[in-house]
Amino acid sequence: MKLFSGSSNKPLAEKVAEILNTKLSPIETMIFPDGERRVKLNTDVVEEDTVVIQSTNTPVDQNYIELFFIIDALKRSGAKSVTAVIPYLGYQRQDHVFRDGEVVSLEVMIRFLESLNVDNIIALDLHSIKIPELFNIPVTHLSGLPLFAQRIKSKAFNVLVDSDDPKDFLKDTILVSPDMGGLRRIEQMSEMLHAMPWIATVKDRDLRTGDITIKQFDGPLNPSELPGKRALIVDDMISSGNTVIQSAQLLKDNGVVSCDVFVTHAIFSEDAPELLQDSSIDRVYVTDSVFIPEEKFFPKLHVLSIAEMVAKELQK
Ligand code: R5P
Repeated sequence: MKLFSGSSNKPLAEKVAEILNTKLSPIETMIFPDGERRVKLNTDVVEEDTVVIQSTNTPVDQNYIELFFIIDALKRSGAKSVTAVIPYLGYQRQDHVFRDGEVVSLEVMIRFLESLNVDNIIALDLHSIKIPELFNIPVTHLSGLPLFAQRIKSKAFNVLVDSDDPKDFLKDTILVSPDMGGLRRIEQMSEMLHAMPWIATVKDRDLRTGDITIKQFDGPLNPSELPGKRALIVDDMISSGNTVIQSAQLLKDNGVVSCDVFVTHAIFSEDAPELLQDSSIDRVYVTDSVFIPEEKFFPKLHVLSIAEMVAKELQK
């Protein structure tokens, strides 16, 4: 198997290669003065199973185009198969028409991928479980939730709990979905954590401006039970940070003693890192599905790697 990386998340691709006891295959990407991009493989791929790892986060269009070009180069150079590992799939929140006259951007990207005859897609924590059905090619849908569950059960996460007994680690702890769209995710997580109780905060969005407000609760747990609890917010992505910040504030206003956030994709647009650091959130756990440049790191941030999980999937 030959492993290639696009430019969006090389550190993750390198980790995967190391676990698989191999090296990334050489590839050359150059940008002409007019902004056009050229990709060239510097190795033979005839009759090889090949893999390209590329997240399509910001700059979204650029990263998609680079992925398309690498897949095309692999295909026309005679690769036996091409698997695209897309840890973060851009445009996934635009998977249907919300208002008349809108494009379904995700479908457009999927049609491009299919037209390039890519053989398999490996994705992670997609915004909706229906997204794999939009593809006419096989999609393996991995999840970062087991990584989070493992961390929540560990001593490293429970340093402030006054006990060394793992049985005490989940006591007085609850899960929170920051919006009603995340209920399936929260139920899965609850199952992994011995039926941990959960509640949801309700997010209202102004579809015209995109502004959100979070002011009330829903779900099986009664808000009167919140005082004294440790809250764990679980979501698929942080972009502006508004969702988890408002959800955490409402939880703290209702008496939770701490609020940690577990989110798979660290998109971190605009000034999200500063806002998260200055918020009432205690710790922010993310994965490395999206490369986080040094200037976007902040003291509350903890990054867990998906490299093992991806490598394991590629070995199947
Ligand atoms: C929305 O439904 C998603 O699950 C996330 O909650 C949302 O995309 C996060 O965006 P932001 O950080 O900008 O609030």
